Amino acid sequence: MAIREILRMGHPLLRQQAAPVTAFDTAELHALLADMHDTMEAAQGAGLAAPQIGVSLQVVVFGVRANPRYPEAEQVPYTVLINPRIEALDDVMVDGWEGCLSVPGLRGVVPRHARIRYTGRDAAGALIDRSVEGFHARVVQHECDHLVGVLYPMRMTDLGLLGYTSVLFPAMAPDQDD
Ligand code: NI
Repeated sequence: MAIREILRMGHPLLRQQAAPVTAFDTAELHALLADMHDTMEAAQGAGLAAPQIGVSLQVVVFGVRANPRYPEAEQVPYTVLINPRIEALDDVMVDGWEGCLSVPGLRGVVPRHARIRYTGRDAAGALIDRSVEGFHARVVQHECDHLVGVLYPMRMTDLGLLGYTSVLFPAMAPDQDD
């Protein structure tokens, strides 16, 4: 379909609560999902939320094959998740480095729930219900935060651990600098 412009931090749409999707398996929804997929792939992202391309709906996509931006991350199946809900499975929090396509060039350490259950719908409206941990849990929490107007720096507890990717991780290729 199309690679869309990714809004960057400071755009008011990234601070908005997104609206739930009410109609599934529509041409409009499939077109949005195709654009999100293409935009995420082109940017080598681990995930993308609809508000990042200017659509304030509760839609996220994520997935990690062997992603050069996250060389240590485990693989996560490509997933379309609509109207998501997250619950923490226990009180354990873990710190980990995150980047965001809306905050290019930076990485920061963000505490997230180690184990979560997430539910939602796929493009056809079928129920998704998964319990996950590790990077999978992290990416889902990061993407779903976009649906409530939260960017990862807002979740950081130590802004001393926010820095430029090229300085923090100089071995990474320049085109992975976001
Ligand atoms: Ni993000």
